[in-house]
Amino acid sequence: MAETPLPPPDAVPAPSVTAEPFGKLADGTPVERWTLVAGGTRVRVLSYGGIVQSVEVPDRSCRYANVVLGLATVDEYVEHPDPYFGALIGRYANRIAGASLPLGDRTYPLPANDGPNCLHGGTRGFDKRVWAAAAAPAAPGAAALLLSRTSPDGEEGFPGTLDVRATYTVTAEGALRFDYEATTDAPTVVSLTNHSYVNLDGEGSGSVEDHRLRIAASRFTVNSPTSAPTGEIADVAGTPFDFRTARPVGAELRSGHPQLLIGLGYDQNFVLDKGVTAAPEPVAEVSSPASGRALRVLTTEPGLQLYTANFVCPSFTGPSGRAYRPGDGLALETQHFADSPHHPHFPSTVLRPGEHYRSATVYEFTVR
Ligand code: GLA
Repeated sequence: MAETPLPPPDAVPAPSVTAEPFGKLADGTPVERWTLVAGGTRVRVLSYGGIVQSVEVPDRSCRYANVVLGLATVDEYVEHPDPYFGALIGRYANRIAGASLPLGDRTYPLPANDGPNCLHGGTRGFDKRVWAAAAAPAAPGAAALLLSRTSPDGEEGFPGTLDVRATYTVTAEGALRFDYEATTDAPTVVSLTNHSYVNLDGEGSGSVEDHRLRIAASRFTVNSPTSAPTGEIADVAGTPFDFRTARPVGAELRSGHPQLLIGLGYDQNFVLDKGVTAAPEPVAEVSSPASGRALRVLTTEPGLQLYTANFVCPSFTGPSGRAYRPGDGLALETQHFADSPHHPHFPSTVLRPGEHYRSATVYEFTVR
């Protein structure tokens, strides 16, 4: 299918990065909302949780829509933290089994905030912190925002003072790029991601089961009944996890595959064929036949958690005023594998003093 780069050249406004007050937390801490415009894409980011609140891109008829799920106010993000809509996830994306972190000759207890496991960095992970935000230097035609924060030694049980910098860039081509960096003063584990849920027909427009999905992964990590990897790595061939050729996300959701029953849908880590890379490489593609919008994901990371919004329950509405139901979005969380600290054969997530954690992911938008 022909792809047209975004957007039509005459519709591209000059790149800009602007900030506005966006309410306060209960303790009075002010929250800012930053707006990045470049290449025909407009992205809104909150200093609370580094949350990507909206990503507006055109469809094949040049009609703009916000293609990520979100909420309208900070109060709602605080009230409904569970879906982690658009959030910056850390210090450790996804689950650490048994909420205990073996590292060196010690085991660090972590908060168990998901059954027996520690999920997304604990009870108050990076998604629930206010980040220092500032416009950052960017290439000509691009707009960038730097979010930074020092996570103290012992925060949510993790050892080591972690200095974190996350740069969100809207490129001259209208792509959204995430660059994460971190350093530590003591051995720790780090795996950062963004938890955006896409719906290429616009948030609040209904299910994404018809979206076509391709993931360049021949294997996936098998989950235990509590959705943490068991350590087993299985072939996707002949299973509902085979997205090596594009097909509808929902094609096998009702297949009864035991792994899909555990998480009420897709909630697995895919082992990307390319492995860890120095530069972001293409790993996944989602497209909607209805709107013609397509998203290509590139990353330096070795893993990708596919999560089909299985636990998003219709108890609140998105900015469109429409309630979200399970399956109304899908998250493609680039990451090191969940629970790596317990599985030495998974790529290591350990960061030591003197080392520099770097991770980059790009969401490229096109129309077909
Ligand atoms: C990840 C997890 C899911 C769920 C979501 C957030 O994708 O794997 O099980 O916790 O985050 O709701």
